[in-house]
Amino acid sequence: MGDLHLPNISDGEDKSSPLKNRIRKNYRHIRKWAKRTETNCFRIYDRDIKEYPLAIDFYDGRFCVHYFSSMGDDEPRQDLYEAAVEALSSLFGAREESIYWRTRIRREKTEQYEKVNEEKEFFTVVEYGVKFRVNLLDYLDTGLFLDHRETRRLVASMAKGKRLLNLFAYTCSFSVHAAMAGAAFTKSVDLSNTYTAWGRENFLLNGLPSQNHPIVRADCLKFIDEEIDSRVLYDLIVIDPPTLSRSKKMDQFFDVQLDHSMFLSKALRLLAPGGTLFFSTNARKFKLDQEALEGCSVIDISQKTIPLDFHDAKIHRCWKINQF
Ligand SMILES: C[S@@+](CC[C@H](N)C(=O)[O-])C[C@H]1O[C@@H](n2cnc3c(N)ncnc32)[C@H](O)[C@@H]1O
Repeated sequence: MGDLHLPNISDGEDKSSPLKNRIRKNYRHIRKWAKRTETNCFRIYDRDIKEYPLAIDFYDGRFCVHYFSSMGDDEPRQDLYEAAVEALSSLFGAREESIYWRTRIRREKTEQYEKVNEEKEFFTVVEYGVKFRVNLLDYLDTGLFLDHRETRRLVASMAKGKRLLNLFAYTCSFSVHAAMAGAAFTKSVDLSNTYTAWGRENFLLNGLPSQNHPIVRADCLKFIDEEIDSRVLYDLIVIDPPTLSRSKKMDQFFDVQLDHSMFLSKALRLLAPGGTLFFSTNARKFKLDQEALEGCSVIDISQKTIPLDFHDAKIHRCWKINQF
């Protein structure tokens, strides 16, 4: 590939805005890494300065700005909005229409994964040389959770010739990385038609054959019982569920804190001897039930899997689980 557009910053080093200074510094650092690794989607600002409660992600020259509301307000204050637009336009020449705003108000009870717009603004980004469709406008999330970049790479590094099961697969990013790294077989399971279709596109985009990479639209809670009955085994299993999930398509409510031990002990029955299970959650107050994993080696790999552009050590937690 080698033709990623990662602009050079030449804004005359204007030091008047702390936000601009920090973005410039962060971007210069990550740009070197991005060029080397063939990646054009990454975080360029991560709530580094208290007065600017934003996270800004660069997606091939477009920007996704998350506003972290503490007061329950949906929209950022006007001065904050203007500071971000000014910083991005002077550093990158960004136009207002290439800056997409998101607000992150703490979600209650059930997680919503519904559409927020109908524009269908898809475009392609590259992560470690692998392509993904993203959309910064129409859905609550972009199609690629950037905080799991290193987790995907870790799974991919173990995937050659292996069989992978990806539960709560969203747009199949773990499976596509594993397939590109030579996985013999991947199966991705998600409840949403939108995301399974999106996942299929991600496979196609990378020229991967569909016959060895099925994508199943199903409730993982039911699917796991059926898969145990069918006696298939996997060398690698990835489980990255939502914190809470309830949908008309599901029979049961899923709460990662209450249900993970039951779910993980079932998943372990699908693990081939010598296989590895990766379990991750974004739930901040989550406590792993170690007792339910008796007879397993459980290694907390959270620190290792937080990418260098993410400055919030608690963005996700992740464990590598092996059976003795
Ligand atoms: C946090 S996202 C998973 C992120 C994904 N692992 C990744 O790395 O991109 C949660 C996903 O779980 C799916 N989901 C929620 N409840 C589900 C269920 N009961 N069965 C299957 N998928 C479910 C949602 O549709 C969504 O795609």
